[in-house]
Amino acid sequence: AIASGVARITISDWEQYHQELERRVGIDQKIMTRVIGRARQNPQRVVFAEADTYKILKAAQILQEENIAIPILLGNRERIGQIIRENHLELVDCEIIDVYEEEERTERYGNLLYEKRKRKGITCSEGKKMMQDRNYFGAMMVELGEADALISGLTKDYAKTIKPALQVIGVDRIVNRVAGMYIITNKKQSYFFADTTVNANPTADELVDIIGLTAEKVRFFDAEPRIAMLSYSNFGSNKGELPEKMISALQKAKAKYPDLIIDGEVQANIALSPRLLKENYPFSELAENGANTLIFPDLASGNIAYKLLQEIGGAEAIGPILMGMRKPVHVLQLGSSIREIINMVAIAVVEAQIHKSSPGEPARR
Ligand code: ACO
Repeated sequence: AIASGVARITISDWEQYHQELERRVGIDQKIMTRVIGRARQNPQRVVFAEADTYKILKAAQILQEENIAIPILLGNRERIGQIIRENHLELVDCEIIDVYEEEERTERYGNLLYEKRKRKGITCSEGKKMMQDRNYFGAMMVELGEADALISGLTKDYAKTIKPALQVIGVDRIVNRVAGMYIITNKKQSYFFADTTVNANPTADELVDIIGLTAEKVRFFDAEPRIAMLSYSNFGSNKGELPEKMISALQKAKAKYPDLIIDGEVQANIALSPRLLKENYPFSELAENGANTLIFPDLASGNIAYKLLQEIGGAEAIGPILMGMRKPVHVLQLGSSIREIINMVAIAVVEAQIHKSSPGEPARR
């Protein structure tokens, strides 16, 4: 295009996404390009509970154009139309659902929610009213197979957004725990952090569940987990409730998953440095290559660590990847970028493919 007599090269939204990914992730961009390649083989229906926002609509356009997902837009019909017009978006034949126009569906979904949760204090009329909340409505669509995955959380608090999905879709009963993982990538390598989003102060047994979910999700990204149980101490150097919890979880995890490479408790810098491990703790299972998967003792440390790396460290953070749900649901970080939304949708699509190929199986691998 020519602007003010100066030649300006215009690049497509998709090229922009890729350039940014390459700039931020470097060599490890393949971790996402592989997922996107898999998603494209069989795009799935993804319902967006916050479709009356520019970022979601722009991401939906790119995902549709690139044949990664089939977006279903939940939101105020007029507002969605207005954002599409004002921003010259091109969303072709995209289903738009305005819950306030869906009397029959809110009634039916409300009854189902009541049936599910009548012994958890929900009345029939409350169930119907709750279905006017798009997080409940979208979760029920996924539950009933009217959509394959749910994406929400861009504009709302994480806890408020995840609760409807927990109540409607629920957890995979094999593990019976949900947790959140982030992939933190610098130019050289990817690291997997958990739990960064759900369990405030997990017990040793809950940490074992988190380890199991995380190991499985790391393999989803074609990596082999090498897990460090993080602490402020190294291999028994300090006594205290927190290091002892990590040691107890380690022992239980070793018994439950004997093939897993896992060690600790260990400080974060030591866990990531084969040199420091070999020098000081050569007996450790992690000494050869260092850890690529970090299990945090509590939500505060995991959540704060990834956000600091994202903001100050300049790392690319892919997530939050919700693990352990019965069907694919991802709750975005408040204010996520379009690139981050695309990443999460591509992951959800692949999870939905796996879930569909083995019905009854959770979307774990
Ligand atoms: N694992 C398994 N099941 C769970 C979990 C879990 N971690 N949490 C809740 N559930 C189950 C409940 O047991 C309940 O089961 P039921 O169907 O038998 O009743 C069901 O899910 C519904 O749960 P609720 O009772 O509605 O929710 P709860 O009060 O347990 O709260 C929540 C769950 C919202 C996840 C809470 O643990 C929480 O607030 N966590 C912290 C979230 C947060 O603030 N994260 C940090 C910010 S995130 C970010 O920065 C991107």
